[in-house]
Amino acid sequence: MPAARPAASSPRRSTVAATSARKAASPAAPSGPLGLQDYLRKVLTSKVYDVAVETPLEPARELSRRLGHHVYLKREDKQPVFSFKLRGAYNKMAQLPAKALAKGVICASAGNHAQGVALGARRLGCQATIVMPVTTPQVKIDAVRHFGGDNVQIVLHGESYSDAALHAKQLEKKKGMTFVHPFDDPDVIAGQGTVAMEILRQHAGPIDAVFVAIGGGGLIAGVAAYIKAVRPEIKVIGVQTSDSDAMVRSVKAGERVTLPDVGLFSDGTAVKLVGEETMRLASLYVDDYIVVNTDSVCAAIKDIYQDTRSIVEPAGALGVAAVKQYAARHGSQGKTYIAINCGANMNFDRLRFVAERAEVGEEREALLAVTIPEERGSFKRFCETIGPRSVTEFNYRISDEKQAHVFVGLTTREKGESKKIAKAFEGEGFATVDLTHDELAKTHIRHMVGGRSSLAEGERLYSFVFPERPGALMGFLTSLPPGWNISLFHYRNQGADYGRILVGLQVPKAEVSRIDALLRRLGYPYVDETRNPVYRLFLR
Ligand SMILES: Cc1ncc(COP(=O)(O)O)c(C=O)c1O
Repeated sequence: MPAARPAASSPRRSTVAATSARKAASPAAPSGPLGLQDYLRKVLTSKVYDVAVETPLEPARELSRRLGHHVYLKREDKQPVFSFKLRGAYNKMAQLPAKALAKGVICASAGNHAQGVALGARRLGCQATIVMPVTTPQVKIDAVRHFGGDNVQIVLHGESYSDAALHAKQLEKKKGMTFVHPFDDPDVIAGQGTVAMEILRQHAGPIDAVFVAIGGGGLIAGVAAYIKAVRPEIKVIGVQTSDSDAMVRSVKAGERVTLPDVGLFSDGTAVKLVGEETMRLASLYVDDYIVVNTDSVCAAIKDIYQDTRSIVEPAGALGVAAVKQYAARHGSQGKTYIAINCGANMNFDRLRFVAERAEVGEEREALLAVTIPEERGSFKRFCETIGPRSVTEFNYRISDEKQAHVFVGLTTREKGESKKIAKAFEGEGFATVDLTHDELAKTHIRHMVGGRSSLAEGERLYSFVFPERPGALMGFLTSLPPGWNISLFHYRNQGADYGRILVGLQVPKAEVSRIDALLRRLGYPYVDETRNPVYRLFLR
């Protein structure tokens, strides 16, 4: 690639209409399934406030401004265990007869439910056995110990949640303990329903819709039952991720569907089989479903951070991701939407991925593969086509004498802009592939552009540091002497104050003795990496 002269989502969006929604909302016979009034009573008499707090319902001002709606966040991430799960777990445990409590409770969970049961056991003074898969991260085991203290016994068993659950069921029988289900139990459902009770008390004005993340369905079952009993005009919208949508599929099929696999990014909602009772209630009382993808969840985590300065876990951001999708689909303005921020138990090392994907999820970054002819002036035209946009990523390795394939990331301002940029490149005669929604490109290929090249003869490798400001990268690229050939280039905006780039240069023989003098003139600190052993191992 000749140096320039100085002048120079598809995410599946499925909606399942809740056709069966109001077909059987009548109160149940005493021995039959519980009806709306039964759940209303159970929610109103729930015992959750021994351990749970009434969380605030806060306006999301910035998001509301951007969407043109009134968006509120129900801050369940502010519970003592950083999720709503302790409501249901504690309500179930607190209703147990003293004799059952004395024998202890048992559950299987590697997540928020385990922490709820642990805290509940400590508060009630009973013993809790918590079965976790052996693969559970230490941080979660520590959290359960922290909340449960001497009242919990942790049993590590099996590779997956299903193995752990099976073992817990065996222990339950053997030792006569009470199993505390994470979602499929009327007392657990009623405990989770107290979230809706608080919302309706906290917001007496009109509410158009409440958005609820679904895993096994305990939260939405409780919320939907309460809302339909008290203010049936409010829409209840269930939210799932496209790689873990068991409830959506089950409601559509009219029976519980077991997913062969589930995506684990939103680990709080990664459930292969929803509950029987939760599905029954969802079929009756949930109005609609929104399915969101990973990138949009990352963008929602960022939205929530911008409004609250708090980081929620992926499952905790499903509600906001769905509000945005729902608002875009329905078009109107000035509606009141409530998203339940249901949890904040985020693994810190996951933040790197979230930050990387949030830009694409927000459609603030376009990723493109652009093919540029290896001829004078073409790189200058490439830079001009980019225009004032910031470059977020630039990867290139010489591989062809006639053309250069460049992997480039650019900031965008509006939805669909990546397509327009791709068109502009095509207009300049550069073959372009829009990779903005290409999973393979985002996960792997961006890190693999490069490798050894037979065309990299005489290549010298330099790393540069320059202050990150708009136009700095293009300024650098265009200030290299025009006779020099760029044979390798790697840059990724990491959000730091200084940008780091790695450049391979092929310099005409006559100028080799002046390389240092010319590079110094560019004004950026640099290091000659040509003898770096890693470079020699992988790139030469
Ligand atoms: C943070 C978070 N959100 C949502 C859910 C889903 O709840 P449910 O299984 O009741 O649908 C869970 C379940 O553990 C969770 O931890």
